[in-house]
Amino acid sequence: MINPAKRTKSIELSQIRKMFEITNPDAINLGIGEPDFNVPENIKNAMIESINNNDTHYTPNKGYIELREEIAKKFKNDNNISTDPENIIVTVGASEALYMCAQAFIEKGDDVLLPNPSFLSYEACIKLSEGNIIPVDCKMENGFKLKYEDVSEKITKNTKAIILNSPSNPTGAVMDKEDIKAIAELSMDNNFLIISDEIYEKIIYDKKHYSPAEWSENVITLNGFSKTYAMTGLRIGYLTANEYLCEELLKIHQYNIACANTTSQRGAYEALTGPQNEVEKMVREFKRRRDLIVKRLNEIGHETVNAEGAFYVFPKIEDDTFVKRAAAAGVITVPGGAFGSNGNGHVRMSYANSYENISKAMDIIEEISHE
Ligand SMILES: Cc1ncc(COP(=O)(O)O)c(C=O)c1O
Repeated sequence: MINPAKRTKSIELSQIRKMFEITNPDAINLGIGEPDFNVPENIKNAMIESINNNDTHYTPNKGYIELREEIAKKFKNDNNISTDPENIIVTVGASEALYMCAQAFIEKGDDVLLPNPSFLSYEACIKLSEGNIIPVDCKMENGFKLKYEDVSEKITKNTKAIILNSPSNPTGAVMDKEDIKAIAELSMDNNFLIISDEIYEKIIYDKKHYSPAEWSENVITLNGFSKTYAMTGLRIGYLTANEYLCEELLKIHQYNIACANTTSQRGAYEALTGPQNEVEKMVREFKRRRDLIVKRLNEIGHETVNAEGAFYVFPKIEDDTFVKRAAAAGVITVPGGAFGSNGNGHVRMSYANSYENISKAMDIIEEISHE
C-alpha cells in the first residue's frame, strides 16, 4: 500500500456528497449547493459559437485579455475596486482560486481565522497547507454575521489570514458594511491577508454587498460565475489582488492548470457583457422562496433567521435525529455540524428548488416535527 502524504490524510472526502449518493432519488432535495436554473441562452450560444470557431486552444495563463478587461470593469462598477487586467486571474471556479490562495500564502504554523460555521472547502484548503484553524464564532443572535469585535479579539502576531464569505454558505448571512470596513482596516494595521469569497455577491435581498478590498491592500477577492449565472458545471471563476500577491498566485495557477478552459471563458465574457435580466429574475424568485421557507419554518417552531443572501437558511433544530428522519420522509437537508462546531443544533436547507417543492417539503417537515 502506498501511504498518502500526512496533509492528505488530515482531511476527509465531503460527507455531504456521500449522503446524496445514498438517498432516495425521489426525495425533495434541500441539500443542493447550486442554482436550479439553467445557463441563460445567450451564454450557451456564445460558447457553442466559440467551439465552432475552433476557439479551443490554450489562452494566456491569466485568461483572455478581453475577459479580464470586463472583469476589471465589473470590479470597478460593482465593488469599488480599482484593479488592472494584469492583476486578475481567471480560474477554474472560485474553488481553484481558494486553493491557490492557501497554497501560495499559508504554511505550517500560520494561524488562519475561519468563520464558524463556514463552507467546507475552507477547512480542507487550510489543512492541506498545514495552517492552524482559528475559529471565529458567527452567532445566531447576530443573525450569524461575522462581527468585527469577534475577529479582533482573535488576532495575534501569528495571524496570517482570515477568510470572509458574505453572503455566507451555510447561513445566508450578509455582513454589515461597518464590520467589513473595520476588519479591512485591521488587516492593514496587523498585516494579515483577507481572502474574501464573494461568490454569492449577486444573490442578496434588500442589502448592498461590500468588498473589503475597498479599504485594504491585503485582500484577495474571489468570485465566479457558478452561482450568479448558474454555470456551476462550467467551472469558471476569477480573483484579483495587488501585483505582488497576484504574481505569487499565478505560480500556483500556472503549474497546476495552465489556464481556465476556453469555452467557459467565452461564456463568462458573454455573461458579463450580455443582458442581466435572467440574473434579476433568478434573484427575485430566490427571494420569494426565502420568504416562504423562513415563514414556514418559524411557524412550525424551528427558529430561523431571515437570511439576507445566498440560497440557504440555517434553522435551529436541536433534535439529532432530524436529518435522518427528514430524509426517510422524503426531504434531504444537511446537518449544520458539517460546517463547524457552531453549526451543531442547526440544519442547512437550500431553497435552490422549486416553490412547489419547498412548500411540499415544509408540509413534510411540519409532520415529522410534531410526531
Ligand atoms: C462559499 C462558496 N465558495 C466557493 C464555492 C465554489 O464555487 P465554484 O463553483 O466557483 O468553484 C462554493 C460552492 O458551493 C461556495 O458555496
